[in-house]
Amino acid sequence: MRTAPAKGAATRDAAAKEAATGEVATFEVVLKIRRNNPEASGEHGAGAGYWQEFTVTVHSTERVLDALHTIKWEQDGSLTFRRSCAHGVCGSDAMRINGRNRLACKALIKDLNPTRPITIEPIQGLPVLKDLIVDMEPFFASYREIMPFLMPSGDVPKRERLQSPEQRERFEDTTKCILCAACTTSCPVFWTDGQYFGPAAIVNAHRFIFDSRDDAAWERLEILNDKAGVWKCRTTFNCTDACPRGIQVTEAISQVKRALNTGRI
Ligand code: SF4
Ligand code: F3S
Ligand code: FES
Repeated sequence: MRTAPAKGAATRDAAAKEAATGEVATFEVVLKIRRNNPEASGEHGAGAGYWQEFTVTVHSTERVLDALHTIKWEQDGSLTFRRSCAHGVCGSDAMRINGRNRLACKALIKDLNPTRPITIEPIQGLPVLKDLIVDMEPFFASYREIMPFLMPSGDVPKRERLQSPEQRERFEDTTKCILCAACTTSCPVFWTDGQYFGPAAIVNAHRFIFDSRDDAAWERLEILNDKAGVWKCRTTFNCTDACPRGIQVTEAISQVKRALNTGRI
C-alpha cells in the first residue's frame, strides 16, 4: 500500500529527474472527488453526496482537467463534469479545487501539493445536477437581468461609434469576463442570500455602464440599486481572489456603488 511520505518522495524524485534530464516527469496523485447523482438509488442515491478517491498517474505538465479526463476515460465513465475549450476561454469548468474556485483547465496538478489528495468539489451556492455539474440557470438569470448588451440611443449611425483610448480604459478590465461563475460562487453573501445578483452580474453591468457608447447606464444602475443589488456586497474580496481572468471584481463593484452615491458615471 502506498503511503504519503513515499509518494511525496516519488514526486520530488520525479521533479529532480525532470530538472536534470529535461524529460517530462510523471508521478501518482490522488484525486478526492465529491460525487452526487440525484437520480441514483441505494446508499449513494437521492442526492446523498459522497467522496470518492481515484489514483492517477500524471505528467508534471498536466492540469486537473487532464486528470479528470484520465479518470473518466480509463476508470469511471460515469464521472460527470463540464468542459469545452480546455484553454481558459469558455468558462465551463469552474470547480472548487483544494477549497478554492479555479478553472480545472488552468490548474496545474504540480502546483497543488500533489503529495496529498487533491479535493475537487462543485462550485457552491448553485444546485448540483450531477457530480461536478451545477445548474447555472440562476446565475444566468441574474446576468440577463442587468441587460448585458449595448443600448445606444438615437438613429443607427452611418459609421462606427468612435471611442478614445481613455474612454475604453474605463471598462477594459470587465470586458475580460468569461462567465465562469467562480466569483459569484465564492461569495459568502451569494451562498446565504438567494436574492443577491452576485459579482459576475455586476461585473457585466459595469462593462456597459462605463461604456461611452451606451446610453442605458442609469437603467442598469437602478436595477443594481435594488435590494438584490450592489449594496449587498460586503467587500469580502473572495470574488477578486477567485477570478481566473484577474479582473478586479471588488473594485468594479465599488465603482458601481460610487456612481450610485455620487450620481456621476
Ligand atoms: Fe469568472 Fe471573473 Fe467573470 Fe467572475 S468576473 S464570472 S470569476 S471571469
Ligand atoms: Fe461577495 Fe465579492 Fe462583495 S465576494 S461580498 S461580491 S467583494
Ligand atoms: Fe474552457 Fe476551462 S474548459 S475555460
